[in-house]
Amino acid sequence: MLTLDFHPTGRHFLQIPGPSPVPDRILRAMSLPTIDHRGPEFGALGLRVLKGIQQIFQTRHPVVIYPASGTGAWEAALCNVLSPGDAVLMYETGHFASLWSKMATRLGLKPEFLGLPGAEGWRRGVQASMIEDRLRADTAHAIKAVCVVHNETSTGVTSNIPAVRKAIDAAKHPALLMVDTISGLACAEYKHDEWGVDVSISGSQKGLMLPPGISFNALSPRAFEASESARLPKAFWAWDEIVEMNKTGYWPYTPNTNLLYGLAQACDMLLAPGHGGLPGVFARHQRWGEGVRAGVKAWGLEIQCADPAVYSPVLTGVIVPADVDADAVRRVIYERFDCSLGTGLGKVKGRMFRIGHLGDCNDLTLMAALAGCEMGLKLCGVKLAGSGVQAAMDFFAGHPAPVSLQMAA
Ligand SMILES: Cc1ncc(COP(=O)(O)O)c(C=O)c1O
Repeated sequence: MLTLDFHPTGRHFLQIPGPSPVPDRILRAMSLPTIDHRGPEFGALGLRVLKGIQQIFQTRHPVVIYPASGTGAWEAALCNVLSPGDAVLMYETGHFASLWSKMATRLGLKPEFLGLPGAEGWRRGVQASMIEDRLRADTAHAIKAVCVVHNETSTGVTSNIPAVRKAIDAAKHPALLMVDTISGLACAEYKHDEWGVDVSISGSQKGLMLPPGISFNALSPRAFEASESARLPKAFWAWDEIVEMNKTGYWPYTPNTNLLYGLAQACDMLLAPGHGGLPGVFARHQRWGEGVRAGVKAWGLEIQCADPAVYSPVLTGVIVPADVDADAVRRVIYERFDCSLGTGLGKVKGRMFRIGHLGDCNDLTLMAALAGCEMGLKLCGVKLAGSGVQAAMDFFAGHPAPVSLQMAA
């Protein structure tokens, strides 16, 4: 049992899909003394991280950094561009899409929640054709925004964002496109500008390999323009003052200085050309996902994502047999092998667990996680078709990652 004053020997395996393990280099950077956030040194740090994060989102436009978790950045996105009573089209991919839709209701918006019926909705990506059909029917253009989750962390499904953009354009609809890439960014390919996203939302504790505590809104010029006339109350979250002060590297309030030290390191690590840059980051995650799925398939267990075209490179959801409680399996793996796995959330609670394969991982951290899972499943009496550990070893050994894709810590 992990407590503040006792730590088991060896390392803890934090294999949840965020927060992900924080590399030593980032922890060291964050341990530097906090500086004056209005002093000259700070401006240079501010400009550096603002430039770095633009490169990660692949945008030329402003990215707003908040000292808040991802939920804060969800609220910021909605309240900056929308007005009370606005209709928003949201798509149910899983638990996080559902929470975002609940938030929209609490803010006084009118979310309409599209999705596939029954259990299927949580096993497949966004169906862009459903969005197109709904927007075509909205001839009065009452819908002001389309909101989708890029990588649904509760299920392990990554949706096709360019297809959603195409659907909006095909319907000739002016709705803004807002995308939650809280667990997608810096793991799965993401191109804010090229994909025509108006607001991209992300957080620090997933692919960016930072602790929780900062989050982001990447903007398009249309989104910024919309924020100038939108009428939902906004003060702390308002983009205008932040974007203005960011021009010199400062914030209107006290920013999260030490997390920004960490962000500067994270950007350097993720963008380093010697390690493959962003294409290298995406390829690494794809390969890890493939290796883990090879293991799950060898166990004979089902993967929560039912469409191989949208398997997540960030995490894999593992469905347990109907008579097994997934949380009981997780508990055994935690208590016996010091490995944390993601719980099933919302509708799939107890039915599945999630293996994170993101951020500061490597083949052997994933092998350890799979070994923990295999032992825990067996201890819980789950009949496995074969050894997932062996299948994953075969995959990783047989598919060497180019040296340039191994990340420096
Ligand atoms: C896809 C997604 N959206 C939103 C959130 C909420 O972010 P936070 O818990 O940082 O507030 C999470 C958190 O895991 C997430 O994975």
